[in-house]
Amino acid sequence: MADSAQGLHEEASELSALTRDVHRALISLQEELEAVDWYRQRAEACRDDELREVLLHNMREEIEHGSMLLEWLRRCDATFNQHLRTYLFTDLPITEAEEAATSGVGDAGANSPESAKPAAASAVTPAAAPPAFPPALTLGSLKQDREVT
Ligand SMILES: [Fe+2]
Repeated sequence: MADSAQGLHEEASELSALTRDVHRALISLQEELEAVDWYRQRAEACRDDELREVLLHNMREEIEHGSMLLEWLRRCDATFNQHLRTYLFTDLPITEAEEAATSGVGDAGANSPESAKPAAASAVTPAAAPPAFPPALTLGSLKQDREVT
C-alpha cells in the first residue's frame, strides 16, 4: 500500500478524490508537525552550536511546510476556512474568539465566512483573503465528487 493511503479507515475505492487528497494533506501535516517537535527537542538538547542552528533551521522549514498544508486545507474545506478565520490572526483571547465571531463583536467576526460585510472593520485582515469561500464538505458533495473506477 502506498504511503499516501496509509491510515485510510475505508477502502480507497469508496472514497472521493477530494477525501483522498484531504487525507494526504492531513497525514502530511501530521508528519510536518511531528518533525517540528523532533527538531525542536534535538536542537534544545544539542551541545554543538552549529548543529543546533542547522536543527533550528530545519525546524523552521517544517513549520513552513506545515503552514502551506494548512492553507491548502483551508482553501478546499469550508469548515477549516471558517474556523481558521475565527481563531487565527486575532488578538482576542482564544477562548473568546468563537463568541466574538458569532456575535459580530471584536475582530474575529469580521474574518468569518458568515460575514458578508467587507473586512474593513477588522484590525487584522489577511491581505490575500480570497473573495469566495470554498464549498462546505457535505455528504452530497462527497458523493458528487466520488470517482467511478
Ligand atoms: Fe517538511
